[in-house]
Amino acid sequence: MLFLHSSLLVLHFAFSSSKDTITINQTIHDGDFLISRENNFALGFFSPKSSRFRYLGIWYNKVREQTVAWVANRDDPINGSSGVLSIDQYGNLVLHSYHNQKVPVWSTNVSVEVTDTCVVAQLLDRGNLVLFHDGSKSTVWESFDHPTDTMLPGMKLGLNRRTGMNRFPICWRSADDAGTGNFSLRINPNGSPQEKDGKWNEFWSVPKSPCDPYGHCGTYGICDPDFFSRRFECDYLPGYEPKSPRDWHILKDTSGGCVRKRLESTSLCRHGEGFVKVANVKVPDTSAAVWVSMNMSPRDCEKNCRRNCSCSAYASINIAGKETGCLTWYGILMDTVHNWEEGYDIYVRVDAVELAVVAQKWNGFLERKDMLGFLVLSVVSAWFVIILFTYLWLKKKKKRVRNKWSKQWLDTIGSTYYNETSVKIKSKGKLSNGKEVAVKRLSKDSRQGIDEFKNEVLLIAKLQHQNLVKLIGCCIQGEEPMLVYEYMPNKSLDSFLFLIKLELVAI
Ligand SMILES: *[C@@H]1O[C@H](CO)[C@@H](O)[C@H](O)[C@H]1NC(C)=O
Ligand SMILES: *[C@@H]1O[C@H](CO)[C@@H](O)[C@H](O)[C@H]1NC(C)=O
Ligand SMILES: *[C@@H]1O[C@H](CO)[C@@H](O)[C@H](O)[C@H]1NC(C)=O
Ligand SMILES: *[C@@H]1O[C@H](CO)[C@@H](O)[C@H](O)[C@H]1NC(C)=O
Ligand SMILES: *[C@@H]1O[C@H](CO)[C@@H](O)[C@H](O)[C@H]1NC(C)=O
Repeated sequence: MLFLHSSLLVLHFAFSSSKDTITINQTIHDGDFLISRENNFALGFFSPKSSRFRYLGIWYNKVREQTVAWVANRDDPINGSSGVLSIDQYGNLVLHSYHNQKVPVWSTNVSVEVTDTCVVAQLLDRGNLVLFHDGSKSTVWESFDHPTDTMLPGMKLGLNRRTGMNRFPICWRSADDAGTGNFSLRINPNGSPQEKDGKWNEFWSVPKSPCDPYGHCGTYGICDPDFFSRRFECDYLPGYEPKSPRDWHILKDTSGGCVRKRLESTSLCRHGEGFVKVANVKVPDTSAAVWVSMNMSPRDCEKNCRRNCSCSAYASINIAGKETGCLTWYGILMDTVHNWEEGYDIYVRVDAVELAVVAQKWNGFLERKDMLGFLVLSVVSAWFVIILFTYLWLKKKKKRVRNKWSKQWLDTIGSTYYNETSVKIKSKGKLSNGKEVAVKRLSKDSRQGIDEFKNEVLLIAKLQHQNLVKLIGCCIQGEEPMLVYEYMPNKSLDSFLFLIKLELVAI
């Protein structure tokens, strides 16, 4: 009995400490909350910012800065803390205020055929407030079908063709007023239904890149969508460093953003500060920027930014390829993203120390470049020498082989080759330009093959440089291969043939 009693007590505490449901006859007053099972979301009354009015809403429970995801009575705020949420005898969630207890400020307004006292409202961990029959568990109403201005995971947008319900978020009127604003996000329902092909088609999706969410790398951070080469897409602008290096580098949590290096010890104001170029970026959020001029040289733009100590960066931007506009930023730099195709160059203000560091790095880079150049040159030279020697060695080896081969060749066929019976040297001919030539023809009955003939062409080609003979034609005319030599003045036909023989032996 005692055990049962204490169990009930524990159960009671467990229930009351994190209550996520209300049933009929239970109420949520201003100051009470429903907390989802894992503490992700809370439902209760709140006043946005400086507003005096009270709204019933759902917000993130673990985020310290109150972030409201859903509002019930957005256009009928309650004056004072007299709001009460309950389930009425028809099974509807109703919100009353003290001032008018007859007509509810807000209601789920679901038509329920039979009076149902078994309806329960539960706040789920995804931020959905669901009204359902406790018995059948069938959902009567859910807040996800009535978005305010926030899309939560699991929420659907657009027209439900079966029920005719169209779900779309509408912005708040202002940060102080949760009332329906002037802008909504809707899906054109006239498109062909998503069932046609019997499968889901993806028409559109965001984000495309990790850098798409606004300010992904925090203040003074810079995001690189092509980060695959690196481990982390976030980096920081020159002169800045992560506020919490641990969060940034280990947890990859950039929400703390970056702060200026040497914030206490150096100045950005007339203390030798300067600008460091950050190339090819989507420029930082321009709500903190000023167009100085639509036509100003980069140098004047820099001067303009340097003059004002709160100017944190500038960019010289080409307008329609004609004029150069000067854009300057004051205060924080947010949402800078690398864009290698269509980016602009921005110049970030840095202190004298950073300027020196960057200059040194640049010099170091140049030195490294020189070193690299030297290294490349050395390697190339070494290779050249190796290749040259290899070539010469191979050539020598080949020559030796060739010599052996030539000798053999000459020994066996050489005599017949230069025998008039196999090769007819036509007595001196003359070309139309007056050049004296000798024509050597391979006769049909020669045992000399075409290959040997070709070899002579190669060998003769080697002789040319010695200015003894010059092969000026080579062809296979009809069935008889033929070489045409121009021979040098003062060389008799005999000496010419002799030279050929001589060279052949010598090679
Ligand atoms: C709700 O309260 C009414 C009156 O106080 C009571 O008659 C009814 O039984 C209660 N319903 C439930 C489900 O507790
Ligand atoms: C809200 O209530 C206060 C006090 O009850 C009253 O003075 C004030 O006029 C009310 N404001 C509105 C807009 O009704
Ligand atoms: C409740 O819904 C009905 C239709 O289902 C509609 O005519 C009526 O205006 C709604 N009332 C409120 C207060 O939204
Ligand atoms: C909404 O639009 C109306 C009419 O154009 C305008 O008067 C009003 O100021 C706008 N409200 C907001 C919050 O922009
Ligand atoms: C610097 O520029 C800002 C923004 O334009 C301006 O508000 C401020 O007065 C300027 N300060 C000086 C000293 O010119």
